[in-house]
Parts: sequence; C-alpha cells; structure tokens
Amino acid sequence: MSPRGRLPVLCALLVLAVTHVSSDCPPDREEQTHNEAKLHKDLLCAYNYDFRPVKDHKEAVTVKIRFAIKYISFDSLEETFTLHSWVAMTWKDQLLSWTPSDYGDIKETQMESHEIWTPRMALFNADATMYQSDQIYTTCLLESDGTVKCVPHVAHSGICRTSLRSWPYDIQNCTLYFGSWMTTGEQVNFTFYNKQPVVQDDYQDGPGWKLLHVVNERLPGKYSCCPNSTYPMLKYTFVLKRIAAGPAAIVVVPSVVIVLLTVVSLAMDAKDNTRLMLICFSLYGHFMFLTEIGYEIPKHSSDTPIILLFLRDSMVVTLVGIIETLFLMYLRRRVTPAPDFIVAVNRLVAKVPGKYVIFTEFDPNDSMDTKDLTGHSSDITSDSPPATVDWPRFALILNRLNLIVVLFIYLILIGTYIPRDDY
Ligand SMILES: *[C@@H]1O[C@H](CO)[C@@H](O)[C@H](O)[C@H]1NC(C)=O
Ligand SMILES: *[C@@H]1O[C@H](CO)[C@@H](O)[C@H](O)[C@H]1NC(C)=O
Ligand SMILES: *[C@@H]1O[C@H](CO)[C@@H](O)[C@H](O)[C@H]1NC(C)=O
Repeated sequence: MSPRGRLPVLCALLVLAVTHVSSDCPPDREEQTHNEAKLHKDLLCAYNYDFRPVKDHKEAVTVKIRFAIKYISFDSLEETFTLHSWVAMTWKDQLLSWTPSDYGDIKETQMESHEIWTPRMALFNADATMYQSDQIYTTCLLESDGTVKCVPHVAHSGICRTSLRSWPYDIQNCTLYFGSWMTTGEQVNFTFYNKQPVVQDDYQDGPGWKLLHVVNERLPGKYSCCPNSTYPMLKYTFVLKRIAAGPAAIVVVPSVVIVLLTVVSLAMDAKDNTRLMLICFSLYGHFMFLTEIGYEIPKHSSDTPIILLFLRDSMVVTLVGIIETLFLMYLRRRVTPAPDFIVAVNRLVAKVPGKYVIFTEFDPNDSMDTKDLTGHSSDITSDSPPATVDWPRFALILNRLNLIVVLFIYLILIGTYIPRDDY
C-alpha cells in the first residue's frame, strides 16, 4: 500500500478512536442534569415514535396545517408545478406533556422531529419523477400541555394540467391535494388552521407567472365503500396568470400588424403590381411568422392556442386575396364589350352617394378616364372605349365588395381567435 493510500485509513481510525473516547466518559465528566436535559430524558424515556401519540387508540390526532407560501415555479410545457413553502403543522401529543413546576418552570422546549411522532402528509398528485418524502426533518417546539409545532421548509412538486387556449393571456388553475397516505381521518385528521390557512406575506412570484389567489378547501373524504372511515384531503388551488408582455410583443402584436398589411393591400386598386407585391409579401410574412413563432408557442398541449388558428385563417384569407387580385387584374385588361348586366350594375353604383369611395379613379361622367386608361394599356384598341371603361369600373366595384367581406371576416376572426387580457 502506498503512503497516499494509507492516509484515508489512518484518518478513519483516528475518527473512530475520537468517537470512542467521547462516548466513554472520563470519571471527571458529569452528566448534564439541569432541568431541560432532565425534561427531555423523562419525556423520551418510554416514548415510541412509531405510534400515534394518543392514550386511547380510537382517538384521532387532529393536525392543523398552515401553508406560508414562498415561491412557485410552474412549467406549463412539462405541466409540473412546484410550491416552496413553510408548512406549519400543529397537533397535540398526549404523551409529551409535563408539569412546568417540576422542571424549573420550563414551559416550552425544542425537540428534533425524528425523536417524536410526526404526521406524514403526502401530496396525492405528486410529480413522481421527483423524490418527495412525506417525513419532515426539522426542530419542533413543544409546549407543556403537549402541543407540538413543527414548521418544515418543503418543496412540493405536483402535476398540473394546463389549458393553453388563450395563450399568452392564459390563467392556469393548479391544484395540490394533501392528505395521509396510510391512515384514515379517524386516526390522523388533517384540517386547516382556523385563522389564515394560507399566508402569502413573504411570497415571491416565480419566472413568468403571477399568483392571483389561492383557494383552500377541505374534502371530507367520505366514500360509500367505507362508511366507518373517512379519507380527508386538503385541497389548495393556485390561480396563476402568465406574465404576457414578452409573448404578446413577439406574437400578438406582429399578428395584428401582418393582418393590417393584408387589409391595406386589399384596399388598394388592382391597377398595377404594387398591390400584388404587397399582398404576396403579406402571405410570405404569414409563412415566416408561423414558422418563427412555432418555437414560441406550445403546440402540443391538449388544446391549440387560438392565436395559431387565427394566423392559419388569416393566411387563407391572404391567399384568396392574391387570387382575387389576379382575377381583378385580368378583368381590367379585358377588351371585349361588357355584358349588359355589368353595365347596369355600374350605372346603379354610379348613382349611390358614396360612389367616390368606390370609383376612386373614374368619374362616370368624365370622358378623361378613357384617355387616361388607354394611355396606360397599349393593347386596348382605341375604337372600343365603352368596353375599356366598363370592365375596370366593375373591377373596382368587386374590389370594394371584397374589401367589405374581408373586413367582416377579420372582425369575426379577431372576435373569436385573438386572446384578450381579462385581468
Ligand atoms: C380556476 O379557479 C377559479 C377560482 O376558484 C375559478 O373561478 C375558475 O373557474 C377556475 N378555472 C378553471 C379553468 O378551472
Ligand atoms: C376532523 O376535523 C373536522 C373539522 O376540522 C371535523 O369536522 C371532523 O369531525 C374531524 N374528524 C374526526 C374523525 O375527528
Ligand atoms: C361500521 O360500524 C358499524 C357499527 O360500529 C358496524 O356494524 C359495521 O359493520 C361497520 N362497517 C364496516 C364496513 O366496517
């Protein structure tokens, strides 16, 4: 064995020797006999922490619970919810009472939780991938009437189903169920503190979520199978709201902008290629945008975020807008005489008061239009001016009609699909 390898062995031997010496007291060391040491010795001398601290086994131990919540972290994609809190537990231990006058007026003392009986409060919807013990490890406060108070600092991780429909303005309810795994309510009865069962004084919000409120409820746990036993549960519902400014800036506002681009391009004339270019760019923007925010938006939840459906439908509207633009451009270039009904429609529309909104370019009574148009389109024969006026006019009417329909569709889409901030 090398000297290096021998060193740990020597150390271990030394430690053994030291502990041996300390357990075997030298004769000049006296046992501590002050009142507190005597009290502990007397309380624990016949104590068995495996059994409930009642004198009659039919009695229930009532355990009062108060959560002082410190911090919450919530992963809506993994659907895990973690609560960090101080859990104040208090109950009466019938075997740990004493008369203060016998022990120099000591009214309370501390004891380690592993020395005495403690309730085992389990989280029923626990996240099984995290090891979570239902045993507590802390120092507890004992009062002379047998009241025990323990305040362990614990983290509970539970499963929380999320609903992302109105992402990023979603509000999630996460519920944690606590109770005893092995004992009935007739053995260990979990209840709330009478005052303030949940304290939020030192609470800090975790990343991305704001705690709106906590609702606590005690489920009596009566089941038809077992009329003589109850299985009470403490139910805590945490209502959380996503902090949405970031996702809104990345997703919601750009969606509105891209929709405006489509609407503006549809409001333009189909006269030249500007409109076609704009609306094609808008369609490209929809594609780009859907791809980009695919990383931002949780897609695999039980319900699709409605903003995704909005973008999908808006993309279809934009595609239809492109087809319509091409069709209108084709109509404007037609040189054959227009059928009578088109001429009649044009005349009818020319009589309505708001005709300048529709005929942005043409005054039906102005013969200048014809020249203007023939100047633009060299392929139009100059011997058929009525036909060249009728088709573009009709195209303008169709364009306005289409704009109204698209605006209407978008109103419906925005009404149903754009998530809103309710709080
Ligand atoms: C969430 O909890 C609140 C308060 O208890 C309740 O009003 C609301 O309906 C719950 N929402 C869902 C989706 O369960
Ligand atoms: C448990 O406590 C509740 C009230 O906190 C009470 O209604 C119930 O009767 C108790 N159960 C037992 C078995 O003592
Ligand atoms: C419940 O208690 C009653 C009376 O104490 C007894 O007659 C009955 O058998 C018990 N029921 C069960 C399911 O243990």
